[in-house]
Amino acid sequence: MTDERTLAPFGRRAAAVTWRARYGAYVVLGCADTGGPRPQAGQFYMLSAAERWGGGEGERPFLPRAFSVLRAPAGSPELEFLVEDVGPGTKRLAELREGDEVLLTGPLGVGFTPPRETRRPLLVGGGVGIAPLAILQDQLFPNAVPLLGFRDGAHAAGAELLIGARIATDDGSAGHHGLVSELLEAELARDSDVEVYACGPPAMLEAVRRECERRGVPAQLALESGMACGFGACFGCVVATRGGYLRLCLEGPVIDANQLAEVSAPEKQPAGATPANR
Ligand SMILES: Cc1cc2nc3c(=O)[nH]c(=O)nc-3n(C[C@H](O)[C@H](O)[C@H](O)COP(=O)(O)OP(=O)(O)OC[C@H]3O[C@@H](n4cnc5c(N)ncnc54)[C@H](O)[C@@H]3O)c2cc1C
Ligand code: FES
Repeated sequence: MTDERTLAPFGRRAAAVTWRARYGAYVVLGCADTGGPRPQAGQFYMLSAAERWGGGEGERPFLPRAFSVLRAPAGSPELEFLVEDVGPGTKRLAELREGDEVLLTGPLGVGFTPPRETRRPLLVGGGVGIAPLAILQDQLFPNAVPLLGFRDGAHAAGAELLIGARIATDDGSAGHHGLVSELLEAELARDSDVEVYACGPPAMLEAVRRECERRGVPAQLALESGMACGFGACFGCVVATRGGYLRLCLEGPVIDANQLAEVSAPEKQPAGATPANR
């Protein structure tokens, strides 16, 4: 976590899957990346399966998909990724087994930066957005208590990936019955001398942004948008900021909350768009 971003080598490289584990609704893949630099917390990779990545009957090959790095243990070539099966690309990645290969490009984008002044880091995650907070906790904030929100108990199993998390679930099946933003509000009411580090779905990030703005608390938000290339060429990932549009893959995915008037949901895919043509 420095002001200098870690740059990806040119091109895609193959990395063997070394292990796979299930955490409730999520799959974690470990793979050996012997050809790339170590990533910073908040950076991401474009991933695809080396085999059967689209191209089946009636399909064209899929584009790579964007994934935050979950963990990158020091002194090891290992990279870990957290995968939620929400469509054909994530389904294929989630079924990979030890010995299969992924193709990856990265590390990409700008990660998190240290807290301002002497503020205490406060980590807030929702769903699969917990991924960049695990490496953040590993690399810099081992004592930070993460506040994590999930839709139900099966997804809340992902909280085991971080240390000492406080949990909220939409259905009340684990932890606080309600939204993680309610845990944040209570925490900020208790002590607002913090800097918030957040990643999650747009509605959650917007609630975090609003609450931090209201209390004058600085926040770094890891956003998502549809990404086709991951390195600035396609302009598919632009988001509107107070200063104009920016490409999330180059100038994000971590953005200072002050730059945003609102965190808006990514636009719906046009009718007829399929994994084959986006
Ligand atoms: C920087 C970044 C980091 C990410 N990190 C992770 C991660 O650690 N783990 C993980 O499981 N996923 C992560 N994602 C999301 C992941 O890239 C998408 O879920 C994946 O591309 C979906 O591909 P698919 O073929 O499975 O589903 P698709 O059929 O392509 O998409 C399934 C549904 O999700 C929507 N969708 C697809 N991509 C996005 C997106 N980027 N933002 C919002 N909605 C989307 C589609 O419109 C569709 O409704 C990240 C995305 C970004 C941009
Ligand atoms: S994903 Fe292509 S420019 Fe950002």
